[in-house]
Amino acid sequence: MSRKSLSQTTLIADNHSDSATISKPPLFTKFMGSKSAILDFIFDKLSKFEYDSVLDAFSGSGAVAYEFKKRRKEVSTNDFLNFSYEICKAVIENSRLKIDEQQLAALQTARLDAPTTVRDYFEEIYFTHEECYFLDSLWANICDMRPSYGKHLAIAAACRACQKRYPRGIFTVTGNKGRDHRRDFKIDLHQHFVNAVRLFNEAVFDNGRNNGAYCENIMNFKKTNFDLVYLDPPYWSPLSDNDYVRRYHFVEGYSKYWKDLKIDENTKTKKFSSSYYPTPFSRRETATNALNELFERFAESIIVVSYSSNSFPDMDELRSMLEKVKDEVKIEVAPHTYSFANQGHAVGRIKNKVHEYLFIAYDHRQRPSN
Ligand SMILES: C[S@@+](CC[C@H](N)C(=O)[O-])C[C@H]1O[C@@H](n2cnc3c(N)ncnc32)[C@H](O)[C@@H]1O
Repeated sequence: MSRKSLSQTTLIADNHSDSATISKPPLFTKFMGSKSAILDFIFDKLSKFEYDSVLDAFSGSGAVAYEFKKRRKEVSTNDFLNFSYEICKAVIENSRLKIDEQQLAALQTARLDAPTTVRDYFEEIYFTHEECYFLDSLWANICDMRPSYGKHLAIAAACRACQKRYPRGIFTVTGNKGRDHRRDFKIDLHQHFVNAVRLFNEAVFDNGRNNGAYCENIMNFKKTNFDLVYLDPPYWSPLSDNDYVRRYHFVEGYSKYWKDLKIDENTKTKKFSSSYYPTPFSRRETATNALNELFERFAESIIVVSYSSNSFPDMDELRSMLEKVKDEVKIEVAPHTYSFANQGHAVGRIKNKVHEYLFIAYDHRQRPSN
C-alpha cells in the first residue's frame, strides 16, 4: 500500500491535462475487480474525448471515480453496496472536511453502553474479543457524531481497517487461514483504523466541482444527463462467481451496523443473504438484458464499458449491443493480462489468462480529437 501525501494529491488535482501519467492512487479498499491497476490505460484512452460530467455507475472501490475527480470532472458515483457509497461520500463528494485529532481520539474511546452485534456474532470468527469490542465502541462513537462527512470518513476508515486486518480482505472463510508474517497482521485493528483515517483524510481535496455519491441499484437510477457514463459491472463468468455481497458481507454489514439485514446464524461466516442485494448481473440470462437497458438509458452520453475476457455477453455481442445505440464503438485492449486462480466450485483449478478491454461508444458529435 503506498501512502500519498496531500501535496502529491493536490499537484495532480492542479494538473489539467487529461493525458498526465497517474501517480499511484490511494487504495481505499481491497476490492475484487478494482481498476486501480489499469487507470493509466483507461485515462489514456479517454484523454481524446471531450466531457465534463461523469457517472461512475458501479463505483466499487472508488478508484476510477477518484481519478475523474482529479481531472476536475463533475463526478457522480453509484454502487448498491453501502460501504462503497461511504468511501465515495468521504473522498469524492466531500471536498473539505477531515477528521481532526480530537475527533479521532473520541472515536477510539471504549464504550460500556456500545451495541454488541460485532461481539455477539463475530468474536473469534474474524477478530478477537478486544477487536470486536473496539468495533462496537467505534460504532457507538460514530453514531454520536453529528451528520457530516466526518461520519462517512469514519465508516470508510473502519471498513478499510477490518479489511487490512483480515486475510485477503474478504470474509468468505473464517479462522486464521492466510494470516502469515505480513506487516498488516502485526498491526492491531485499532492502529489500522488510525492509519485508515489518515489515509482518507489525505485523500480529501476540492476539485472545484459539485460531486455526488449515490447508493442505488443501478436499474432504478433515474439521472441521465451525464456527458460520459462509465460502466464496470460484475460480469457473469463460468470460471468465477461475481457475488460481492458474499465476499464483503462483514464490512457491508458493519457500514450500516446490519440495519435491515438479518445475519444467518446457521452459516459459518455469519453472513446475511445476498438476496438483500438483487442484481441482474449475477445471472447470465438477465445480465445481457440489463446491459441493453443501461445502454438505451444512457444513449445520449459517451458510454465507456470495462470488460474482461472470459465474461458474458462475449465481446462481439457487447459490441453489437453498443452499436444499436451509438454511431461508433472503439475497443481498446489493456497492455497486460493477468492470471487468476478460479474458485474451487468452478471448473477445475486452472489458471485463467484475462485480458482487460475498454469499449468506448460515441456519436459523431462526440468524436475524439486526433
Ligand atoms: C467490477 S466492480 C466495480 C469496480 C470499480 N470500477 C473499481 O475500480 O473498484 C462491480 C461493482 O458493481 C456493483 N453492483 C453490482 N450490481 C449492482 C447493481 N445492480 N447496482 C449497483 N451496483 C451494482 C458491485 O457492488 C461492485 O461494486
